[in-house]
Amino acid sequence: MPFKTIIEPFRIKSVEALRFPDRDERERALETAGWNVFLLRGDDVIVDLLTDSGTGAMSSAQWGALMQGDESYAGSRSFYRFQSVVQDLTGFTHIIPTHQGRAAERILFHSVLKRGEIVPNNNHFDTTRANIEVEGAEARDLVIAEGRVPALVHPFKGNVDLDALERALTELGDRVPLVMVTVTNNSGGGQPVSMANLRAVRALCDRFKKPLFLDACRFAENAWFIKQREPEFADWAPKKIAQAMFALADGCTMSAKKDGLANIGGFLAMNNDAWAENARRLLILTEGFPTYGGLAGYDLEAIARGLEEVVEAPYLHYRIRSTAYLGEKLTAAGVPIIQPPGGHAIYIDARALLPHVPPLQYPGIALVNALYLEGGVRGVEIGTVMFGLAHDGREAPAAMDLVRLAIPRRVYTQSHIDYVAEVVIAVAERRDQLRGYRIVESPSVLRHFTARFALVADHAG
Ligand code: F0G
Repeated sequence: MPFKTIIEPFRIKSVEALRFPDRDERERALETAGWNVFLLRGDDVIVDLLTDSGTGAMSSAQWGALMQGDESYAGSRSFYRFQSVVQDLTGFTHIIPTHQGRAAERILFHSVLKRGEIVPNNNHFDTTRANIEVEGAEARDLVIAEGRVPALVHPFKGNVDLDALERALTELGDRVPLVMVTVTNNSGGGQPVSMANLRAVRALCDRFKKPLFLDACRFAENAWFIKQREPEFADWAPKKIAQAMFALADGCTMSAKKDGLANIGGFLAMNNDAWAENARRLLILTEGFPTYGGLAGYDLEAIARGLEEVVEAPYLHYRIRSTAYLGEKLTAAGVPIIQPPGGHAIYIDARALLPHVPPLQYPGIALVNALYLEGGVRGVEIGTVMFGLAHDGREAPAAMDLVRLAIPRRVYTQSHIDYVAEVVIAVAERRDQLRGYRIVESPSVLRHFTARFALVADHAG
């Protein structure tokens, strides 16, 4: 087509009204929330970019599929449909539905990990890390060095550092029960992993006889980046690329709330019969019978349909392009973001934007709160609050202090995104006035969800 504008590849059949709380209301709401946007009411947010997880809009075909849900406790028809779609996509033997991604993580790690073991990954997401650490094991991040430098442009910043992985596998031997790769690399900026890197990780896993698991939450976005950036795959359909990615692995954990285009759900899939048997035993204990795993039959239908829609080229073209659109607007205005733009989100480098706020006064929280106060836009800190508390209770700056603006799938239009860009740029223009925070109340794990903050006193910040 001769036109440059990437239009949304859908029309809107049902709408949900937004509320527009004014500045005073927003200030009161944030104060009540202890200056933690996780504790806001959704109704007090104008544009919600807290997460792309479970926040997408389902298609009319998915809503139609809900009515086809078979709610049989055992042997539901919807399970078999779900299983056949997941098997066609991933090629794995055992498909175990779970209520979301972290349930798949918990079941996998609780059934295979022993105290003192180590799981390498490019970057573990927070729930993945927590589910490994709770077993007394270590989650080790081995992303390439380029993946830790926000401003540096590299086509596959989610790649695993192969030398570091080889060293780890040589030195740690039996202490590594499996290797994971997160596609795309959420904690590192929604950055993709190349097929070449996945192949090389596979080769190392073969050499050291380790199973390879994908954290596949955003597999379709990763497949689209491979299509765009790895010439060998330029003519491949996204689904075929995704199948090739899964073919390199022995299993995966999946949150269907992302690239399943569903509001809830996930699965654990693998080829290992013995591991699968243990996993199903645990599943029955905490999630449900193996043919529903904590989901309704209609959820399984919605996910099955979502997994088919998510690999359609017009959808992925629009999805990746519209995220880049926000990134380009912010870059043009001089706002430092992780370059290049990721698949599901734009990550603002809060440490670079607010050099006067030290990491232990949480520049990410300062920026998140300013975005909400300025325009009712809710993002999320991915930095020292999320990752800075070590298992032994000591606090240290995280590798980066980022603010993620995650874009729900098929929910917001270009004008919402133009508004978001205006809000971010307005805050960036008065960056000198932003102050840091201190934590006044905090749980010991996953503290970012429920911690309460207070502004640091003027003289300290
Ligand atoms: N792995 C990755 C890479 C994730 O991004 C998430 C969730 C999970 C696992 C856990 O899946 O939420 O279904 O239990 N990420 C969301 C986010 C919460 O906002 O990035 P879940």
